[in-house]
Amino acid sequence: MTGSYPNTRLRRTRRHGWSRALHRETVLTPADLIWPLFVTAGEGVEEPVATLPGVSRWSVDGIVARAKEAASLGIPVVALFPNTPRELRSDDGAEAHNPDNLMCRAIRAIKDACGNDIGVLTDVALDPYTSHGQDGLIDESGYVVNDETVAVLVDQAVNQANAGADIIAPSDMMDGRIHAIRMALEMNGHPNVQIMSYAAKYASAFYGPFRDAVGSGGLLKGDKKAYQMDPANADEALREVALDIAEGADSVMVKPGLAYLDIIYRVKQRFDVPVFAYQVSGEYAMIEAAQAAGIGDRDALVLEKLIAFKRAGCSGVLTYHAAHVARLLNG
Ligand code: PBG
Repeated sequence: MTGSYPNTRLRRTRRHGWSRALHRETVLTPADLIWPLFVTAGEGVEEPVATLPGVSRWSVDGIVARAKEAASLGIPVVALFPNTPRELRSDDGAEAHNPDNLMCRAIRAIKDACGNDIGVLTDVALDPYTSHGQDGLIDESGYVVNDETVAVLVDQAVNQANAGADIIAPSDMMDGRIHAIRMALEMNGHPNVQIMSYAAKYASAFYGPFRDAVGSGGLLKGDKKAYQMDPANADEALREVALDIAEGADSVMVKPGLAYLDIIYRVKQRFDVPVFAYQVSGEYAMIEAAQAAGIGDRDALVLEKLIAFKRAGCSGVLTYHAAHVARLLNG
């Protein structure tokens, strides 16, 4: 119930900063942030990603330094993505379940250096490992085959858990993979390894810079519309989420972020699970482009977008701005 003017003047509580702080409904803290990091081969290597200004790929030693930085800033989790050397990519993406691959080396190094001061979230999908850049195995026509892919994803997930991953995050959009991965984790001694499912992941034009960062962009022929969701669909996202929860997801993700706030909101209203958003590479790059072009202020733009995710119902957000934002929030 709202009264009428002048008994009610909504501007009263907006008059001063202290009052705005008092009436603020949503807060953003470093604990809401997950920082995606790109791993590359070598030692002492930092490779800036041209389409993601301010973001670099780091060799394992640099990744460990970033993880320590994240922990000291109060960021609870880093998310790892490998740029697999070209010669290790193959049609079947077998490098994904190599116990000594880049991903596993990075996980082990972080866990050795930081222990449980920080969580490590790992991406399950084959695109950083395949010579064709698709997230799964393909048949002669180039179609990504579901069940055969799930079998490989299970091996990939167990491989990451064996290396010390805390949260397995399947981003592949195959049907049935959450159940298969959950069962394999249970049977392989990882009952407390979580699954954060990319439950509603859309076939989006906002992923371009990420594909540059993991080196799959130039390899990819065609698109991912035969497995990632149609941006026109919302009811279907609720079915995806329902299935993933039933299959054993501890939390679910909506991706990309800002263009899908309605999905986040509907998922949160319908289900009692933690919901996360991925503010993806294209979203990050657009903010950086706005700053560079003098169109907007980076810090203000980022904070406004991140609070939108919290307002819509998110428990947290994956963002390439995580460290920068944590520094802002920490003053
Ligand atoms: C693929 C994957 C993608 C992203 C995360 N995992 C891209 C894709 O589906 O092609 C995108 C993240 C981003 O754009 O920041 N498994």
